[in-house]
Amino acid sequence: MSNASQGFVIWFTGLSGAGKTTLAQLLEPRLRAAGLNVEMLDGDVVRTNLSKGLGFSREDRDTNVRRIGFVAHLLARNGVAVICSAISPYRKTRDEVRAQIGPGFIEVFADCPLDVCATRDGKVEMYERARRGELKEFTGVSDPYEPPLQPEVHVRTQEEAPDESARRILDFLASRSLLTLDAIR
Ligand code: ADX
Repeated sequence: MSNASQGFVIWFTGLSGAGKTTLAQLLEPRLRAAGLNVEMLDGDVVRTNLSKGLGFSREDRDTNVRRIGFVAHLLARNGVAVICSAISPYRKTRDEVRAQIGPGFIEVFADCPLDVCATRDGKVEMYERARRGELKEFTGVSDPYEPPLQPEVHVRTQEEAPDESARRILDFLASRSLLTLDAIR
């Protein structure tokens, strides 16, 4: 039996340019088509409101990630399918959010080599500036990224088309009875 009214959190993690937002935007209409209430929490967007003023030190990133996790938790426990897309570079902080949310936390590793991320639309200039040392604490260049050890879903965005990655995430949700795929096939 499907458990469509049960909320959950799809938590993307990965480098800037790895495809987190692209996949989140692909998933959103499909989850809606499956009859779910959906909300998106994107790092770049959250940083213009809820996390406005925060920078990229470890402390500020952790604060940003905890805020996203807190809101995601509130929504998920009210039956919302939440899609979070922030770099969330620190394993310990992601695991903290995982513990807060419980079994509805689905970590999706958007895995892509740094050199490829640096060529993606809208990211080229930022990576160039980071490599020249003009942008400090830049994830993957001058700041750490700790990949998940056991993500629920591991998508390799250099090798798979976005549609394929999205499909694998939907299949995972279906395997957990969080979604009925019939509606969106
Ligand atoms: S997180 O580390 O706190 O999870 P978040 O996903 O919200 O990061 O924001 C990352 C986005 O901020 C990047 O996609 C990029 O557009 C922008 N950005 C600006 N400065 C940096 C930086 N030093 N490191 C990483 N991303 C940065």
